[in-house]
Amino acid sequence: MKTLALILFLLSLPGYAQASGGESVKLDPVNIDLNDKDSLQRGARIFVNFCLSCHSASYMRYNRMGQDLGISEELIKENLLFAADKVGDLMKAVMPKDDAKLWFGVVPPDLSLITRSRSPEWVYTYLRSFYRDNKSPSGWNNVVFPNVAMPHVLYEWQGDQRAVYKTVKRKSHVVIDGNRIEKEIETEVFDRLELEKPGSMTAKEYDKAMLNLTHFLVYLGEPAKLVRYRIGIYVLIFLVVFLVFAYLLKKEYWKDIH
Ligand code: HEC
Repeated sequence: MKTLALILFLLSLPGYAQASGGESVKLDPVNIDLNDKDSLQRGARIFVNFCLSCHSASYMRYNRMGQDLGISEELIKENLLFAADKVGDLMKAVMPKDDAKLWFGVVPPDLSLITRSRSPEWVYTYLRSFYRDNKSPSGWNNVVFPNVAMPHVLYEWQGDQRAVYKTVKRKSHVVIDGNRIEKEIETEVFDRLELEKPGSMTAKEYDKAMLNLTHFLVYLGEPAKLVRYRIGIYVLIFLVVFLVFAYLLKKEYWKDIH
């Protein structure tokens, strides 16, 4: 009985999380293509320049990233090595954890597995959904992560967005002494984001930059995937060549029987 109760409780959890999460936000689809080396390299550049000051990717070394993405050690040294001294170093955040906790109230999480824990769609939407909010300590808020402690570090590119709300009327009723009294309640719900002050990029350019960054974060989540793709091609070539020999061998064996 106890086990059954526990199972029922566990089954009810995702439903509860959804119910308590309020209105679910629509995530934008994103097409991930890990063969796009150019996009991965651009994403790596954004990550190192704008994210590594606060977030780590502490399972990745600069030179491993360089090998996987086709960036030479010289180029890494010249362009990507702000947070470390050696190309063999791990990609650790510049900001000490204690300082971050003091400034933001939370330590910015390691981003190695973020696209696997949240999904690439979530990360892509998150990076494009910051808006101005004077009530939050950083002055920013985010549609997919309400009351987020992270400021919009790329606002100079994207510009300032503003949240637009709409009023929705809902019918409700109360029963007093057996009498049903109908009431109409008005609530403000989030409608859309509007660009208030443009940044240095157009919306299209910014989306492309965030696609590059999401590509890079997906790569971080499973670096071996690129190696697997590479090996996969050789395995297929081997199988095709082997098929020819297997066929010839089969013909040789059956020659006398036919
Ligand atoms: C100034 C410091 C700072 C910088 C720079 C920064 N972040 Fe953040 N980020 C934070 C903090 C703090 C949080 C934690 C927010 C919270 O829990 O409320 C966070 C949270 C996140 C999350 C959500 C993590 C979760 O819990 O699901 C993602 C994704 C993220 N950051 C991505 C990025 C990316 C990509 C960049 C580079 C463009 C970046 N951040 C740059 C401080 C920063």
